[in-house]
Amino acid sequence: LPDADVAAPTAGDVAGLLPSPAAESDKYRRGVLGIVAGSDTFTGAAVLSVGGAIRAGAGMVRFASVEESVRYVRARWPEAVTTVLAPGSTGVLDDIGRVQAWVVGPGLGTGSHARDLVAEILGTDLPVLVDADGLTHVARDRSLLRRTGPTLLTPHAGELARLLDVPREDVEARRIEHVRRAAHELGATVLLKGSTTLVAEEDRPVRVNSTGTPWLATGGTGDVLSGIAGALLAGGLSCYDAASCAAYLHGLAGRAAAAGSARGARPGGEAAIAALDVAEALP
Ligand code: APR
Ligand code: MG
Repeated sequence: LPDADVAAPTAGDVAGLLPSPAAESDKYRRGVLGIVAGSDTFTGAAVLSVGGAIRAGAGMVRFASVEESVRYVRARWPEAVTTVLAPGSTGVLDDIGRVQAWVVGPGLGTGSHARDLVAEILGTDLPVLVDADGLTHVARDRSLLRRTGPTLLTPHAGELARLLDVPREDVEARRIEHVRRAAHELGATVLLKGSTTLVAEEDRPVRVNSTGTPWLATGGTGDVLSGIAGALLAGGLSCYDAASCAAYLHGLAGRAAAAGSARGARPGGEAAIAALDVAEALP
């Protein structure tokens, strides 16, 4: 890329940033991630986000949602520690102890209970990743982002367009410009998803990732990414490093999964994947 203010992290850069457990480490020191996601109508996004976090190496995932969503997460990921939120309830997240970072938004819904949960989490001092429906609430009310802790937003082009109130085509035509502008205007680290992934933060070079594969263009892979980046935030990485390492690993895992899918049928090639395959390929 001709732009000096753009950088593409290498495998060595990412390896150098990734936390690995020390001999005397325990699950709390590895990082406890809180995830608030899912709703009565959308239960899959939460399963995918939790899976991304567990496979990316979170010490523990604490998941809170309405009962229907908790049921699906428990069934697929018995490792997660779950809390059922009564419909309409707020002020309960304080009781979820030891959380070091939060992910909020995948499948959460756009109603008032979801909005209150987003506000409650953004009201903490902890690092918070906001994705999917969480971004809808932030686009409706940017004042949610006036906070003390670090914030990582993970929009695709349509979500970024809504955050900036510009046409989607403008974002797609000038992605670097728009992701930079979003980081500046919203006072957050911004990861823009797409065939390449960009990570912007004020006064830092935009990081570009192209480890992915077009097979990642399938419903739910973005939810897996939210869990990966959340696990890295809980592990102590900054928003900027967590976002760029997560994009790198997610792309690589997508490739590994697609190559695994093709094994036998299309030697040396790639074939279709399901989003959960990306989480399973992470190790
Ligand atoms: N090449 C490489 N990577 C790609 C490509 C491509 N051509 N297309 C998509 N990806 C990657 C993106 O970079 C991103 O990591 O796949 C992921 C897609 O994430 P999202 O756009 O968030 O899509 P999805 O996971 O389906 O989102 C689930 O969240 O955005 C909301 O409501 C929306 O139903 C959707 C839900
Ligand atoms: Mg998404």
